Amino acid sequence: MSEPIKTVEHQYDVVVVGAGGAGLRATFGMAQQGLNTACVTKVFPTRSHTVAAQGGVSAALGNMGDDDWRWHMYDTIKGSDWLGDQDAIEYMCREAVPAIVELEHYGVPFSRTEEGRIYQRPFGGMTTHYGQGTAQRTCAAADRTGHAILHTLYQQALKHEAEFFIEHFAIDLIMDDGVCRGVVTLDLDSGTVHIFRAHTVVLATGGYGRAYFSCTAAHTCTGDGNGMVLRAGLPLQDMEFVQFHPTGIYGAGCLITEGVRGEGGYLTNTQGERFMERYAPNAKDLASRDVVSRSMTIEIREGRGVGEHGDHINLHLEHLGPEVIEERLPGISETARIFAGVDVTKEPIPVLPTVHYNMGGIPTNYKGEVVHLKDGDPDAVVPGLMAIGEAACISVHGANRLGSNSLLDLVVFGRAAAHRAAEVIGGRGKPHPRLPEGAADPALNRLERIRTANGSKPTAQIRHDMQWNMQNFAAVFRTGDVLEEGCRRMDDVLRSFADVKVTDRSLIWNSDLIETLELENLLGSAVTTIHSARNRLESRGAHAREDYAERDDDQWLKHTLSSMDSNGVVSIDYRPVHLETLTDDVEAIPPKARVY
Ligand code: FUM
Repeated sequence: MSEPIKTVEHQYDVVVVGAGGAGLRATFGMAQQGLNTACVTKVFPTRSHTVAAQGGVSAALGNMGDDDWRWHMYDTIKGSDWLGDQDAIEYMCREAVPAIVELEHYGVPFSRTEEGRIYQRPFGGMTTHYGQGTAQRTCAAADRTGHAILHTLYQQALKHEAEFFIEHFAIDLIMDDGVCRGVVTLDLDSGTVHIFRAHTVVLATGGYGRAYFSCTAAHTCTGDGNGMVLRAGLPLQDMEFVQFHPTGIYGAGCLITEGVRGEGGYLTNTQGERFMERYAPNAKDLASRDVVSRSMTIEIREGRGVGEHGDHINLHLEHLGPEVIEERLPGISETARIFAGVDVTKEPIPVLPTVHYNMGGIPTNYKGEVVHLKDGDPDAVVPGLMAIGEAACISVHGANRLGSNSLLDLVVFGRAAAHRAAEVIGGRGKPHPRLPEGAADPALNRLERIRTANGSKPTAQIRHDMQWNMQNFAAVFRTGDVLEEGCRRMDDVLRSFADVKVTDRSLIWNSDLIETLELENLLGSAVTTIHSARNRLESRGAHAREDYAERDDDQWLKHTLSSMDSNGVVSIDYRPVHLETLTDDVEAIPPKARVY
C-alpha cells in the first residue's frame, strides 16, 4: 500500500505560476507593489523557455531612424490580420518605449550603436509611415536577447524578495463557485503536495509547442496553464492560430532567428532563386512569418526545394562576413554548426518552417484578467485569475504574431498584471475567505489517478501519436477534409489517454508521472486547436485554408472560444474582436480600409 501524500498549505496575496519573462516581470512587479508574492515554477527560473528567444524585443525607440509607436501599432494590427484587439495593441505599442528603457535601467546588456544607444535591427512586418518604409525597431542583445532579459528579470525578482518555489509542478487551480482561490502543486524534489491559497493566481505557463513533432519550443512547453483552465471549465481562445517560424533548422527544428534576415540574410530555392521577391516584392525575406512560411512550403511542394529529397530551403548569411556574424549572430552560428554541421561563413543553413508560437491561449483583457462569456457579457472577468505571456491570448497577436512582439508582450503585460493585481487586491495580507471542505480534492484525485494509472499505453506512445497527427493534420496549409480526419484521429488519441500506463509509482523526481501530467495538458491544447481549425471557414494569418482561401470579415471577424468537457468533447463559441482603441491618440484601423 502506498503512503498517504503529505500536504503543506501556504497563503499568499498572489501566486504566479511560471518563471519565464512574463512570470518574472509579474512576480517582481507584484512584490514591488507590496504584495506577498510567490512564484512557483517547474524549472529553475533562468532555464525557462524565454532564455531561448534570440532576435530581440520591439519598441519604437527611433534609435536607428524615424519611428513612432503608432506605426508599430499599425504593423501589429495588420500583422494580426485584424484579429488582434486594438485596445490591447495600443497599450502594448505605447508602453513598449518606457518598458525597454526600464529594462535597460534594470541592467539588460543590449547591443549598442556607435553612439551608445540600444542597437535595433529590422524584423518582418515592422515598417515606418504606415507601411511605407522599413523600421529598425527590434532591440537586440546580439542574438541572445531572451537570455539577457530573463537573467535580468530574475535578478530583479530576487532583489524585491519575491519567494520562489522551484521545481514545483502545478497540478490544478482551486476553483470555488467560479472564483479562483489558489493552486495545487507537487514539489518534485520532496514529493509533497502544496496547497497555495491566493487572492490572485497568475498563469504564466508559456505555450504548447510540444503538441507538435517539430517545434522551436523547449520540452517544457506543454501548455500547463491551458490544461488547468480547460479542467476548470473555462474556454481557450483562438487556438487554431499556430505560428510556424520560417527558419527552423531542417531535421532538428532549432530556431535560427529572423534577425538573420534582418541583418541581410536571404532564402533561396534549388535554382538559387531568391523566391521571396516573387511572393512579397516589397518586404521580400522580411515579409511576416505566415507569408514566408507559406511561400517556402509552396516552393517545396512545387519541386523547388533543396537537398537530396527537395524538402527544405537554404538560408544564406555567408555574404554578411565573419565580423558581422561574430558580433550580431554568434548564437545561431554555434547552433548551425552543432545541429546542421554548417559553417555559416561559408555555406547556407538548411531550414524549414517549424512550429514556433501559439497565438491562442487563455483569453484575457489588456490588464491580464482572464475573461469568459457570462450572461451575455463577452468580457466577464473570472475573479482571482490572470494570465500573461504565451499562455494568454490578450489578444495582441491576433491571427499572426510579428517577430519580436513576444518578448515585448511578456514585459508589458507582466507589468500591467502587477498593477492590476495590486489595485484589485487592495493591500498586503488581506484575510483569505474560508475554503469549502475538499476544495483541493479534484487536484489531489487527478494526481493520484495518473500516478497509479495502469493501462496498456506508455506515455511516450500517446505523445508520439499526438505530435505526429498535429504535425500532419494541422499544418501550414489546411483543408476541410484533412482537418476532419485530424479531429477524428486526435479525438481517438485523447480517448487513448484513459488507457495510459505510468510505471513509476513514486512521488520524488518521478519524470514518468510529470511527463504524463504534461501530456494530458498538451492533449487539451492539441484537441481544441484542431477542432477550432476545422471550425474556422476562412483563411486569416497563420490559419491558411486551401478550401477557404480568402479572409471573410463578414462571418469570421471574431475570436473562437473552445471549451472541453470531462469527456473530451469540444464546444465552440465566440467573442467579438475589440476594434475600438483605448484613446483618441490613434484611430482604429477598420479591416475593410486596410491597405496592402
Ligand atoms: O526569430 C526570432 O528571433 C524570433 C523572435 C520572436 O519570435 O519574437
